[in-house]
Amino acid sequence: MIKTGHELSDAEIRRRYDALGHRGGLGPAFVERVLALAGDLSGARVLDVGCGMGALLAAVAARWPSARLHGVDVSTARVRTTAATLGSRVALADADVQHGLPFARGSFDVVFCTEVLEHLKAPERGLAEIARVLAPDGALVVTVPNATGFAPFHRLGALVPGRWLRGKLLPYEHPANTDQPIDTCFTYREILALVDRGGFDVVRIAGYRYFRYLEMLPLFRTLYRPLAPLVERAAPRVAAQRFAYNLLLRGTPRGVRAPGAVG
Ligand SMILES: C[S@@+](CC[C@H](N)C(=O)[O-])C[C@H]1O[C@@H](n2cnc3c(N)ncnc32)[C@H](O)[C@@H]1O
Repeated sequence: MIKTGHELSDAEIRRRYDALGHRGGLGPAFVERVLALAGDLSGARVLDVGCGMGALLAAVAARWPSARLHGVDVSTARVRTTAATLGSRVALADADVQHGLPFARGSFDVVFCTEVLEHLKAPERGLAEIARVLAPDGALVVTVPNATGFAPFHRLGALVPGRWLRGKLLPYEHPANTDQPIDTCFTYREILALVDRGGFDVVRIAGYRYFRYLEMLPLFRTLYRPLAPLVERAAPRVAAQRFAYNLLLRGTPRGVRAPGAVG
């Protein structure tokens, strides 16, 4: 497990998130994959934990006008930006998911947590807090960068000298390349074990960006790009999600299993 920034204080992490440029997330194709795992959200009570600039909440608001939307983020600056875009459509709060969310037990039908767990010092504690605010038959939709989808190159990150070269050879999400204040590089097995320890049964697994390293180098990129849509469609059918760079999981709080559950 490769880590950076875990020695920083919580206050310093929050300060750095406030100061970090307002990056737009992984984009509309990623949001579509995430929403596909969530299902119909008509009338649902929805929470986005680590909502960032609110791209996912905006997509939910546009598609399901009856969904009741909440978002939290540790960064006050990001919460303000999201509030300026989404206005009263979404109830927002700044909160650290590891230290408690300002909601009663069982408040939500669906909780999203996309590209956040790898930025927590205690992701199990964050997951346990999400389990608390989810209804017993509710669903968690969580995404995490998957080091196995970049294997074996994720292990070589520390050997690559200089920020410029790391930027060329490593994905932005790699702890040796990213500008996020704190980061952890989890393998496929570590992600599944983490979600399990956090109190969830995984009932569906999806992926996004298969064989990501082929997109990093210009020659391979040119060859791979035309094939990428085909690979994205075919890989889940042959259960190749472990080779996806972003792993997307749907989980239910422990003890509640949806029909068609895996494992
Ligand atoms: C990589 S961004 C992902 C943003 C958004 N979920 C997305 O998919 O684009 C990570 C987000 O998690 C937030 N975050 C980090 N630590 C957090 C914590 N302890 N509690 C709540 N949010 C946190 C950051 O402020 C940041 O907005």
